[in-house]
This record gives sequence, structure tokens and C-alpha cells, in this order.
Amino acid sequence: MRVLGIESSCDETSAAVLEARWSLRSNVVASQADLHAPYGGVVPEIASRRHVELVTLVIQEALDQAGVTLDDIEGVAVTNRPGLIGSLLVGVAAAKGFALARSLPLVGVHHLEGHIFSNFLAEGGPELPAVALVVSGGHTELYYVRGLHDYLILGRRRDDAAGEAFDKGARVLGFGNGGGAALDRAARDGDPKAVPFPRSRTDNPLDFSFSGVKTALVRFAKENAAQVPVADVAASYQAAIVDVLVEHAIQAAVRTGVKRVLVGGGVAANSELQRRLRAEGEARGLAVSFPPLSLCTDNAGMIAAVGHSLLDRGVRSGLDLETFARAPLTEKVYSF
Ligand code: KG4
Ligand code: ZN
Repeated sequence: MRVLGIESSCDETSAAVLEARWSLRSNVVASQADLHAPYGGVVPEIASRRHVELVTLVIQEALDQAGVTLDDIEGVAVTNRPGLIGSLLVGVAAAKGFALARSLPLVGVHHLEGHIFSNFLAEGGPELPAVALVVSGGHTELYYVRGLHDYLILGRRRDDAAGEAFDKGARVLGFGNGGGAALDRAARDGDPKAVPFPRSRTDNPLDFSFSGVKTALVRFAKENAAQVPVADVAASYQAAIVDVLVEHAIQAAVRTGVKRVLVGGGVAANSELQRRLRAEGEARGLAVSFPPLSLCTDNAGMIAAVGHSLLDRGVRSGLDLETFARAPLTEKVYSF
């Protein structure tokens, strides 16, 4: 089944054509980052207006790059949760329009499931069970992936997401709105042991809390910034976040007894997280998988992959498909 995927949950307008189950023909992403940069964060009203301008153009580009027309599309998959409501509505309205006009099956997709499926796309299929670490601007969660579309919660964020901590760190250290990617670059030549930033612990050892390290950085920048090279501060701050992500992901695999760790979401692009988790995984005989950069950050390819799998199982959404700002991937908690 050839599936058109649409993603517009935040500030990326994206469309993709999935040729067969794990085979992408195109994956076009139009980022609005420059548009929001002067405001220091995504402005929901601006995001939805831009999605309206871009969505049909991006869909056409995805069809062109795949060398197909709408006549060749057999199903439509769209992110309908979680995300900015105004942004989600644009993609969902477009998807409904195509589905209605062409009498195509439609399915709503959970954004986080997309980030997990990025790994399956990259590897040509799932090998399960596995532990999945989903780390993005809005999420930091650990799941036990028991089977396809079958998730149990292992750990979740108590306050800020890891990506938020990276974004804040980048602003405090003078990298503007470059986010985690800019901090990652700056940290490359720095000493991660220069500043002892705190590694936060919570009562559930697999939960995450990054507000403490964020506050510690703000305080450090006010009081001591002049004495320490910025690369060293960036490397130390990044290490404090990465240490916790790596430790919890490894612990999750060890405690559940699975041999695979999947990572998804924008922060999966972090070079230090990749290096450390791969090394720790190798030392413990765990297979660690990161999607390629183009599938780490928000994209419609991952949404098309989830959609294909759901459509294949007969899951269908009606033209009354709703959008949700918040929606857990699952309510089921893993019990040890
Ligand atoms: O998944 P994503 O594109 O959007 C959300 O669903 O939130 O993730 C965006 C997040 C941002 O917080 C950004 O700073 C972070 O991913 N990010 C990185 C890197 N590249 C993107 N964080 C750390 N290191 C990177 N190289
Ligand atoms: Zn995302």
C-alpha cells in the first residue's frame, strides 16, 4: 500500500510517500525555524498560519520527489496528537481533504509512535521486544516496546524535557535559538568535567528531571561564566543531561532483560548521546539503534510508516478525526 504521510504538529511542515511497509520514496520537511527565531520559541499562531501556506506545496513536492501523483496514493496518514492544536489542525484538515476527494482510507497517528518507528524505517523492520528512549523538545520517555503498537511506560519526565534543557542551555550560553544542535557543536572541543553540574535523581529510578540542571546552568552563567571557556561549560552541561539519559536507558534494558535499545526524537541527533549510549550498549552486549539525522527530527516519513502499519491492520479514522494537544502514547505501566 502506497501511503501519503503528513506531519504538522509543531514548526515543521512535512509530507512523505511510503512505497511499501518500510520503504520511503520521499520525505520533504519545510522548517519554520527562521520564522520563530526572533521570538525565542515557537509562536503557535505563526506556526499554524505558515502550515496553511506550506502544506499543499510540501505535499506536491513529496509526490514529485517520489515520482507519483495523487492517483497512485492508496492511504493517508496524519499526525493528530500530541502537538500544537492550531498546527495539528492544518495537517489533519489537508489529510481529510485528500481522503475525502479520493475516497482513500485515513488514519490518525500519535507523534511519539512516529519517533519510535523511525528506527524500524532505518533498519528495514522492527526487532522486538526493545526499550525505546524518546527524547525531543517536548518529551523524554522510556517505553518497553512489547510488540508493534504495544507499549508499556518505564519512565517519564517529571518536569522539563531533555530537548527543552538543551534549548535553554543554548540560549543561556549565547547560541541563540540554535538549540541542542548548536550546543552539541560548541561542546565538541570542551572538557565535560570542567563544571560539576548535578545529575538529577527521582524516586522512580527510570524517570527524568532536568529542571535542576537547567537552574544550575543559569546560576553558573550569572556567577562564574567569565572564568570558564564556553566550550567547557557546554560540554559539562551536555554531559549532565546525556549521563542521565544513557544511565536510564541502559538500566531500562537491564531491568527488563531486553537486548535492544531504540532512540528517537530530535535529541537522538546529539553526538555525545550517540557516542556514549553506543559504547555503554556495546560493553553490555546490547544493540543500540539511532535513526539517521533526517529521521531523528520531526518528519512525515515516520508518520507514514506508523500509518501504513495501522492501515494494514484495518485501523481507520473517520472524517471526524480529532486533534489533541496532549495524549499519552499509552496508559499502561510496566510492572517489575
Ligand atoms: O523531535 P523534534 O524535532 O521536535 C519535537 O517533537 O519536539 O525535537 C526537537 C528538539 C529540540 O529541543 C532540539 O534542540 C533538539 O531536538 N535537538 C538536539 C540536537 N538536534 C536537535 N538536542 C541535542 N543535540 C542535538 N544535536
Ligand atoms: Zn518530535
